[in-house]
Amino acid sequence: MIHVHVYEKWWIVLTIIMLVAFTAAIGVSAFAAGIQVPSPYALVDPKTVAKTPPFDNPGLRELSPGKYEAYVLAQASPWKFTPAEIRVPVGATVTFYVTSVDVQHGFKIQDTNINMQILPGQVSKLTHTFDKAGEFPYECTEYCGVGHQNMFGKIVVGP
Ligand code: CUA
Repeated sequence: MIHVHVYEKWWIVLTIIMLVAFTAAIGVSAFAAGIQVPSPYALVDPKTVAKTPPFDNPGLRELSPGKYEAYVLAQASPWKFTPAEIRVPVGATVTFYVTSVDVQHGFKIQDTNINMQILPGQVSKLTHTFDKAGEFPYECTEYCGVGHQNMFGKIVVGP
């Protein structure tokens, strides 16, 4: 019979408790709190995505009253998001589909849970409901070259 030191036993018990607690926390945040991680929604060809629907006409579409989808392109040289401004009414639920035509970028909207890596060849998707009026700036969060700081835009939530 192997002798296990009493402290070691406690550490084993503690480790098992932590594993159970963290696994439960993932389950609660995913299913009860509805927290999503950016999902690789689709794979695209970064060389042709800007000429192919729906990214050939980036911007907002209304799907049904209060439900929208927004297609956003990120690019370097010149560094920008297309579109640079999106206007929605208060209460709008917007699903963002964002992709890059060249290098790795980021897409973060202030005061929301939207914060995604934007990879060339992949469409990243997240949804947010804008309950309050105001301006919600978005910006690139991955260093992508000398014009990185020029990559910004805003969501204008109006009446
Ligand atoms: Cu795009 Cu930094």
